[in-house]
Amino acid sequence: MKSLRYSTQTINKKDIRSVENALYSNFLTQGPKTFEFEKKVKIFVKSKFALMTNSGSSALLLACKALSLKKGDLFWTVPNSFVATANSGILSGLRVDFVDIDPENWNISLEQLENKLINAKKKRKLPKLIIVVHLAGLPVNPIKLRNLSKKYKFKIIEDASHSFGGKYFEQKVGCSKWSDITVFSFHPVKIITTGEGGCCTTNQKKYYEKLKALRNNGIIKDKKKFKFKNLGPWYYEQHSIGYNFRMNELQSSLGISQLKNLNVFLQKRNKIAKFYKENLKNLPIKFQKIEKNLNSTYHLFIIKLESQHESLYKKFFNYLRSKKIFVNLHYLPIHLQPFYRKFGFRSNQFPIAEKYSKTALSIPIYPNLKKKEQIKVVNLIKSFFNKYV
Ligand SMILES: Cc1ncc(COP(=O)(O)O)c(C=O)c1O
Repeated sequence: MKSLRYSTQTINKKDIRSVENALYSNFLTQGPKTFEFEKKVKIFVKSKFALMTNSGSSALLLACKALSLKKGDLFWTVPNSFVATANSGILSGLRVDFVDIDPENWNISLEQLENKLINAKKKRKLPKLIIVVHLAGLPVNPIKLRNLSKKYKFKIIEDASHSFGGKYFEQKVGCSKWSDITVFSFHPVKIITTGEGGCCTTNQKKYYEKLKALRNNGIIKDKKKFKFKNLGPWYYEQHSIGYNFRMNELQSSLGISQLKNLNVFLQKRNKIAKFYKENLKNLPIKFQKIEKNLNSTYHLFIIKLESQHESLYKKFFNYLRSKKIFVNLHYLPIHLQPFYRKFGFRSNQFPIAEKYSKTALSIPIYPNLKKKEQIKVVNLIKSFFNKYV
């Protein structure tokens, strides 16, 4: 049997045709397909604006920059994310701190967040921004978070890289009803893919305008905004410094086609998750706890060894890899990366996230994972515990 990755893309013939058509079209760089994809996504998530970028990392960076915070302002995020989450704030000139995770759902602990905010207020060191991460596709409770943001006056970016198609309180993740900007990634392992790609959604025009300029080297093409005389159809102005973070037409065409399969992808991921939960119960492992009113996309299916079996982690990981199950850890704590240690972070500072990183692993979940492959994963996990516990 072939090796099974923790996640992988699902591409069909229509996807290929869609990209092929883009190759025959007049535009290869950002053009009508990108705008069509943006329109479809904003209708789908019910946000006022959607802006495509060439990766989730670039979407996160643009989101941080669009908030126009001051250099040295503080932002908080979680340690158990991909480094791009925290990097976006650092690259925007902000200072970072972390909030530990919830021991049951492995997202930001809203309880710890509140306690940290109370203390920070006393010390006049409140953050200006919190970036939450919807780990594995499970959204953070947006209402509780919004209430804290109103009280302590911080802005919110949702790193929803894992959660395209996720839902909270009957709304789609990305509606940005309770946050300033939401960010998605369309990397191949994600829910839908554009090869590489990302997206920001927001309901605020001022953020959208900034995101748009930042994506295109700071260039403004809207005549009404020109500071000098419009010299003619060739004229444009640069008002700020920006990047080329545009999504191209090949990526956008793939995205439009993938969007058509989203519901099937989500249903299949949910079905696999259900199968794992039913067949792996009674083992010394935990699943991500899902609160009422929150719906995961199951971008990842994470299992976590019970604490008393932490010493078995390496053996468990290597056992599954030796059997061609390409499990992975999502994620090593960001604050313990050499780059972040330079800011003074150290071990035991965020003990729940650190413990999590010594006990959690992601097992295969993706739409085309066959039943016999799911059974193989289950049987191997069971056989490991039979042998070693
Ligand atoms: C939580 C999280 N944030 C940000 C990113 C960055 O996205 P991309 O790989 O599209 O740049 C990823 C992707 O791996 C991610 O998992």
